Amino acid sequence: MPQINIMLKAGAYPVVIGNRMDNKFLSLIKTNAQNRRVFVFFDARFYALHGKKIEALLKSKKYNIKSFVIPSGEKSKSASALKKIYDFLLHNQISRNDFILACGGGVTTDLVGYAAATTLRGIKWGAVSTTLLGMVDAAIGGKTGINHESGKNLIGAFWQPSFVICNTEHLQTLPEREMIAGLGEVIKYGGLIGNDLIDEIEKFLKNGDLYDTKILKKLINVSVRYKGSIVAKDEREKNIRMFLNLGHTFGHALEKTLGYGKLLHGEAIIIGLLAAVILSQKVNRTSTKALTGYESLLKKCLRFLPYFPLKPAEILKNMQIDKKRFGQKLRFVLLKSPGKPFIASDLRPKLIIDSVKECLDLYKAEGR
Ligand SMILES: NC(=O)c1ccc[n+]([C@@H]2O[C@H](COP(=O)([O-])OP(=O)(O)OC[C@H]3O[C@@H](n4cnc5c(N)ncnc54)[C@H](O)[C@@H]3O)[C@@H](O)[C@H]2O)c1
Repeated sequence: MPQINIMLKAGAYPVVIGNRMDNKFLSLIKTNAQNRRVFVFFDARFYALHGKKIEALLKSKKYNIKSFVIPSGEKSKSASALKKIYDFLLHNQISRNDFILACGGGVTTDLVGYAAATTLRGIKWGAVSTTLLGMVDAAIGGKTGINHESGKNLIGAFWQPSFVICNTEHLQTLPEREMIAGLGEVIKYGGLIGNDLIDEIEKFLKNGDLYDTKILKKLINVSVRYKGSIVAKDEREKNIRMFLNLGHTFGHALEKTLGYGKLLHGEAIIIGLLAAVILSQKVNRTSTKALTGYESLLKKCLRFLPYFPLKPAEILKNMQIDKKRFGQKLRFVLLKSPGKPFIASDLRPKLIIDSVKECLDLYKAEGR
């Protein structure tokens, strides 16, 4: 069973990818929940589909478990949901030797990871990541947090889990839109890693089965390995971890312009990646051909996305708001070629405007 160790200064932790993982799951719990009390948090939809099985597994080994089900959806990444978790943990007298397990997608692991980081100044936690986006991105790297009315992910902490489990059996129940959203982040890694991964994703789409376990395992493996290597070098996003924001300057502005909940995050990232590639080509000039394969993959993905009308001017305005918030210049992660990212700032506004326009025209033509 593939295992990737995320190597950090404070120690390493495993991300395990596979199916039929009951024994592996129990052995990781055994190593980490040494006083045998486990607080288990479930995403509600995941709980309805798989929760009883996880509870039964833990009970079969006589763990003392306390379960809590979190309503599905981004709204749960809020101060009010967090308070409910604190109340549950503290009313049940959690101690620093207990263990917290988060079972769900990025919403659950961000929220529960943050509760783990802040309760009693830090409790050990593990993640059973249950969405493709969670497996390749959200559960990896220790960023935890909640949203604030001023914006997404503005309150949070770095708090690494003790393990992450990526069981591809869980993906079999994930809706197709969520699979595509997760694939958006894998495609981002394609731009950052290079043509081998881009070819692999092309094959995956051609095969037509988004739930093909064998290919999924491969894609998750490559993605986690890459993200893990970046996090190991730059845990706190001081330099190269920024590359992971490829497509995100545009993507976040798109999400904000539409209002959260219309396009899924990973769907917005697909459009954002295309805008980043178009802008890269304008900035590079000399090496435009290098990105045609990647651009063509991104264009093919547009047909999976629901179409919402968008005005370029509003997107540009929302990119400026982000710039003000972070008190820095508008910065873009761009590509010289697949596998060769770089940071660009001080770009001529016309290049940015034209890229957004071109990208939105393509989205309008292909989106459904
Ligand atoms: N911490 C990070 O580094 C990081 C990185 C990227 C994204 N994120 C965050 O992750 C969140 C998005 O994560 P997500 O896309 O996993 O969303 P999510 O957690 O909302 O899950 C998506 C949907 O899938 C359902 N679901 C989960 N597992 C399922 C399963 N196995 N079968 C059927 N349905 C299932 C959920 O109920 C939900 O409706 C955002 O809040 C984003 O900010 C965090």
